[in-house]
Amino acid sequence: MGSLLVLYHSQEYGNTAAMAEAVAEGARAAGAEVTLVNTNEQRMDIEQYRRFDAVAFGSPDYYSYIAGGLKVFLDDWYIAQKSNSQGLKHKPYGLFCSHGGGGRVRIVLEELFSRMGTKVGKTVASRGRPGEAVLEECRELGRQLAEAIRGK
Ligand SMILES: Cc1cc2nc3c(=O)[nH]c(=O)nc-3n(C[C@H](O)[C@H](O)[C@H](O)COP(=O)(O)O)c2cc1C
Repeated sequence: MGSLLVLYHSQEYGNTAAMAEAVAEGARAAGAEVTLVNTNEQRMDIEQYRRFDAVAFGSPDYYSYIAGGLKVFLDDWYIAQKSNSQGLKHKPYGLFCSHGGGGRVRIVLEELFSRMGTKVGKTVASRGRPGEAVLEECRELGRQLAEAIRGK
């Protein structure tokens, strides 16, 4: 069974958290073992990060940028991979974001996380509270990620 990390930041309304739960739901239904980490609650341990087969990253739009907790992860990742890239590069990854109407975070998210590995599916974006259509897109992303690591 492949392992999927859903690494996200959610702080204001729980909008990004609702998307993360839907990604996890889709991935679990497709047979993956899923771990959810909210960077608003804990800093992601980069050594733990190495052991996951795939990852879904989710961020709210904060000033047309990713949330600070995810930026901290990216900084930790960059420094760690310089001395030992094992388990840090070349992972299948998917993206999702929520915003209040501007939504420019999507472009930043796609650019920043392109260094993580091979992108799976399309970036799921939600304006405000995710509705059923967005949640289904998130479940589909989870299924696609689970499929990408099937047999691991
Ligand atoms: C500090 C802060 C900055 C924000 N900046 C933007 C922004 O530039 N553009 C935008 O569309 N939404 C912006 N928002 C709205 C959030 O992206 C939106 O409410 C999001 O769904 C919150 O996700 P969460 O409930 O998971 O924390 C901002 C919210 C906060 C708290």
